[in-house]
Amino acid sequence: MTLFKNLSILIICLIVDSSHSKTWICSNSICLKEPISTFDHITYKSQNECRLSCGKFGALWPHPTGYTSISNDRIKFDPYMIRANIIATSYETNKFTGDINKLFQANIANECNNNCSIAKSPPVFLKLSINSNSLELNWHTNESYVLLIRGSDNNIFIDVKSETVFGARHALETLSNLITKNVEGNGLVMVGHANISDQPQFSHRGLLIDTSRHFLPVNIIKSIIIGMSISKMNVLHWHVTDSQSFPMEFPSVPMLHTFGSYSQNEIYTHKDVKHIIELAKVRGVRVIIEIDGPSHSSSGWEWGPNYGLGNLSVCINKQPWREFCIQPPCGIINPLNPNVYDVFEKVYQDLIELIPTEETTHVGGDEVFIPCWNTTEEITQIMKKRGLGLTESSFLKIWSEFHLKNFNTWSKLKTNHVPVILWSSQLTNPEFIESFLPKEKFIVQTWVESDKKLNSDLLNLGYKLIISTKNAWYLDHGFWGKTKFYNWNTVYDNEINNHELVLGGEVCMWGEYVDEHSIEQKIWPRAAAAAERLWSNPSTKSGLAEERFNRLRERLISRGIHPDAITPKWCELNEGQCK
Ligand SMILES: *[C@@H]1O[C@H](CO)[C@@H](O)[C@H](O)[C@H]1NC(C)=O
Ligand SMILES: *[C@@H]1O[C@H](CO)[C@@H](O)[C@H](O)[C@H]1NC(C)=O
Ligand SMILES: *[C@@H]1O[C@H](CO)[C@@H](O)[C@H](O)[C@H]1NC(C)=O
Ligand SMILES: *[C@@H]1O[C@H](CO)[C@@H](O)[C@H](O)[C@H]1NC(C)=O
Ligand SMILES: *[C@@H]1O[C@H](CO)[C@@H](O)[C@H](O)[C@H]1NC(C)=O
Repeated sequence: MTLFKNLSILIICLIVDSSHSKTWICSNSICLKEPISTFDHITYKSQNECRLSCGKFGALWPHPTGYTSISNDRIKFDPYMIRANIIATSYETNKFTGDINKLFQANIANECNNNCSIAKSPPVFLKLSINSNSLELNWHTNESYVLLIRGSDNNIFIDVKSETVFGARHALETLSNLITKNVEGNGLVMVGHANISDQPQFSHRGLLIDTSRHFLPVNIIKSIIIGMSISKMNVLHWHVTDSQSFPMEFPSVPMLHTFGSYSQNEIYTHKDVKHIIELAKVRGVRVIIEIDGPSHSSSGWEWGPNYGLGNLSVCINKQPWREFCIQPPCGIINPLNPNVYDVFEKVYQDLIELIPTEETTHVGGDEVFIPCWNTTEEITQIMKKRGLGLTESSFLKIWSEFHLKNFNTWSKLKTNHVPVILWSSQLTNPEFIESFLPKEKFIVQTWVESDKKLNSDLLNLGYKLIISTKNAWYLDHGFWGKTKFYNWNTVYDNEINNHELVLGGEVCMWGEYVDEHSIEQKIWPRAAAAAERLWSNPSTKSGLAEERFNRLRERLISRGIHPDAITPKWCELNEGQCK
């Protein structure tokens, strides 16, 4: 018996060896290499080819939320044989769809190292039908799509139907997950049949970057956006300014960046910002710009006295800093200096010129350190004159006035009345938020630990939320102080309140301890774990997503991103063996 078994192993090995290729089968959602017996199993020529349809969701990341069926058959094709037929209702949506199709074709050509032609390929007919002519990308955008593949060795028909161009873009992203390199010669391999309908659970699937603590060059921001688009994340929250530097040009107030940037080479011009917003949009990503205030405002705010505007910020670079702020250099905007509001009006005017009509802004609003204001005579004197005691609630009052005045300017300039976003703080305490921040004007981005009640309390009061769970989605943690690193499993398993007022969430790559040289490894692939949480809101844990996640990581690499490693290569190659 033993002899017989060994003999049969030997024979299989000989067969495998003679073709110089390994055989893979899919068994219980796991791709196995060189199986003892392939009896009863379809065999594939590579792990990636197996993975395309192994398990309910194959290689898809994030997994679809609707009907999903992926067949086991494979068809070889030449990506240059794709003929796209775009059925859109306006010139603009037609052009936009053409652009997303070009990006898709370039992405799949990367899989075959741009050396993809094969002698005999079926023609690939890709039909993209888009209902709406809206190009608006915000929380109301319908990102749903239906994707059908029907293929044979003679032709492949791919049918994409979506409400908006953004749904069509997501469909093409999904389609790229149903394709891999052909390991026997050139060209690509696609699943023969698929039927997928999909739409996200949350409309806000974000990543925060911070360009104040360290400047990030435009090409790095571009590659971050590319990474986001791969897992259908749709909001780049750009925390542009902080106390350390003010790198963005606002042409109406050039002093902000001339005084505030680290150097003349570390500035985002109006043109750069426009470019970033455009390249993001064609990748399904909106850019929400945050000019932080009143706190975190030092660099860029120091020129007021020289220009006859008085102190726009107070406690600038005051020492010992621990007495006046949370992080050096200190600096908090003086909410009682009326000239501050003229500066913000100009900033908003310039900002509104840059951003799409439907877009909003983030107004910051975290970590006001009251002892700074309380030790600044020009503030305490006016407060006393107004009959305000120097109590905490008086300081919260002048703090909220800052946000309300700026909101009024914002909505005066922007006639479509979009609410703005601000961070949770003392001001958003459920006990008194309603007396400071009206819910139709302010959306709260919370950044508390998962065991805190803040989210449910604010939801009960009727506030819309964006959730950045501090003990799971702070990607900077684990690199400073006593903070703990959250691996991709923790990021993935972080469930957020499934409530109609929760717009979604954001992972936050704060910039104190990261710059252009290391940011990709800190963001990726962890942010993509949050992407599936926000798109699919799975009821299962990360353990069941591991094989798909490994494949997602490879996809990031094939598109030029440098993600961190998450497991030994052996574990990637030997699915299920390292659990
Ligand atoms: C493209 O593929 C062909 C056939 O496999 C190979 O001979 C050629 O060297 C490849 N070219 C490049 C630039 O990799
Ligand atoms: C998006 O559009 C599709 C197709 O028109 C529709 O079935 C779906 O309910 C819409 N989704 C939302 C969230 O409105
Ligand atoms: C795709 O799936 C949907 C939902 O189950 C079904 O109604 C439709 O007929 C399927 N389409 C094809 C071509 O199989
Ligand atoms: C502005 O701040 C400086 C430095 O703290 C202070 O000396 C000056 O009196 C302030 N100006 C006004 C108008 O209060
Ligand atoms: C502000 O400072 C005064 C003393 O100058 C103190 O009595 C008061 O409690 C302080 N207010 C806050 C909110 O800390």
